[in-house]
Amino acid sequence: MAVHVVDHPLVKHKLGLLRKSSTSTSDFRSITKEITRLLMYEVTRDFPVEQKTEESWAGPIEVDYIPGKMATIVPILRAGLGLMDGALDMIPGCKISVVGMYRDEETLEPVEYYVKLAKDIKDRVAIILDPMLATGGSLITTIDLLKRHEVKKIYSLNLVCAPEGIARVEAAHPDIEIFTASVDKCLDANGYILPGLGDAGDRLFGTK
Ligand code: PRP
Ligand code: URA
Repeated sequence: MAVHVVDHPLVKHKLGLLRKSSTSTSDFRSITKEITRLLMYEVTRDFPVEQKTEESWAGPIEVDYIPGKMATIVPILRAGLGLMDGALDMIPGCKISVVGMYRDEETLEPVEYYVKLAKDIKDRVAIILDPMLATGGSLITTIDLLKRHEVKKIYSLNLVCAPEGIARVEAAHPDIEIFTASVDKCLDANGYILPGLGDAGDRLFGTK
């Protein structure tokens, strides 16, 4: 499985700001959006382009376009919504497929509560959005779901990952690609990423 750690100085700088516990909810939201834009630049690097003849000031020219029916973004509720606007900044016409899932606090197992996918999802690649890849349970369950719907390819955009979660996802789904700003040290006893960001959903939604 390919794990792309985007270690550009801008990404490192912004991730450092997110890690600070004094970062306000409003700044956490806007910096998350900025990092998502930068990671999307890398996720979409291998997207194919189609040529079309357009009229320019110098006469007809060939220009490159990403096909309209290319991708669907898949924010995992709730925290994945914090990445949605940054992703849409890069591919504004993209269809959105929502997966609602939370992690049971005792078992750490994912619990699915809502799914609404793009109708033509099997003609598209899926870009999963979730700030945290911790034990990997939420991501594996979402990939299982997307594969049942026969998406063409799966990318996962996660701000921070735990090595334990990456290993689990790799064992279950070696064909996907992960794009992240950091692979952190480990999980703590409660399944939180160290040093991580804390509870990303609470920080994005201001619920702590
Ligand atoms: C967080 C996070 C992921 C999941 C990661 O969501 O946004 O979806 O945990 O953990 P895992 O890799 O161990 O499955 P959470 O369950 O806190 O729900 P929320 O987004 O509604 O806050
Ligand atoms: N969910 C979070 O929000 N943070 C973690 O570190 C792990 C799961």
